[in-house]
Amino acid sequence: MTDKYAVIGNPIAHSKSPIIHKAFAEQTGEDISYEAILAPLDGFEVTVKSLIAQGYKGANVTVPFKFEAFNLCDELTQRAQLAGAVNTLTFKQNKIFGDNTDGVGLVSDITQNLNIAINQKTVLLMGAGGAAYGVVLPLLEAGALLSVANRTPEKAMQLANTFNQLQLGKQKINAGNFVIFKNQSFDIVINATSTGLTDDLPDISENNFAKNALTYDMMYGRETPFMSLARAAVAQVADGLGMLVEQAAEAFYIWRKVRPDTQPVIQMVRSLQMEKS
Ligand code: ATR
Repeated sequence: MTDKYAVIGNPIAHSKSPIIHKAFAEQTGEDISYEAILAPLDGFEVTVKSLIAQGYKGANVTVPFKFEAFNLCDELTQRAQLAGAVNTLTFKQNKIFGDNTDGVGLVSDITQNLNIAINQKTVLLMGAGGAAYGVVLPLLEAGALLSVANRTPEKAMQLANTFNQLQLGKQKINAGNFVIFKNQSFDIVINATSTGLTDDLPDISENNFAKNALTYDMMYGRETPFMSLARAAVAQVADGLGMLVEQAAEAFYIWRKVRPDTQPVIQMVRSLQMEKS
């Protein structure tokens, strides 16, 4: 019998997750179905319960439900607990298990696809919202020397306190507004702010990019002002498409215990995107 999975969000029509998971299933021979489900803004829990009743084995969760998903779980992995958000649900033994694969997706994309080591590298994470929280633990586990800059410095400091208390990294996370990092350059600069959506630019300059720096925007599907700035500074620029496919691969692994080859799927999604633009 085909095992059923889905991605739940609102809006959801443009989600690439169904084509990614279908490609993984074809490649690995796993017998699964995967569809996009639009949940009403006030109907996330009802939607999840209905999927469970219909025998679904799991679901991915996207905007705006990752925090509600977190609250709905019976059990959480440490990375989901620290992210404060869940993007992968597994339904088994009458329980809901929650995980967050976003950060692992980012780290895999940087280290495996872009072939850039994170260990002992200075990393500036821009933003201290949900997207930023989701990637901190995997970055620390990969050995990043992490700084966090945010427009509202208190939120960056709160994030740093949360992780510093647990002593997970090689050194404490430095945190504050962008001004305090004005004269500091970093090997890797990651944009986890939502500025790409509004075509704004965080208060960053090319001085913040070390020689041969990697700049990474967690957005995909559009050129953000941050990417344009980085390109003009001749830094290496990556968008979040690889992260999207890698977080999906990790979810697929959680559910099926099979690791798909992500390279051809990244290429496929990239070429679909280019056809569109
Ligand atoms: P997400 O889930 O995408 O992380 P969020 O939790 O609302 O969304 O967080 C948005 C992040 O983008 C925050 O770090 C926010 O900074 P503030 O904490 O100061 O609000 C950041 N952000 C949004 N617009 C910004 C802008 N114009 N300049 C700089 N940072 C911005």
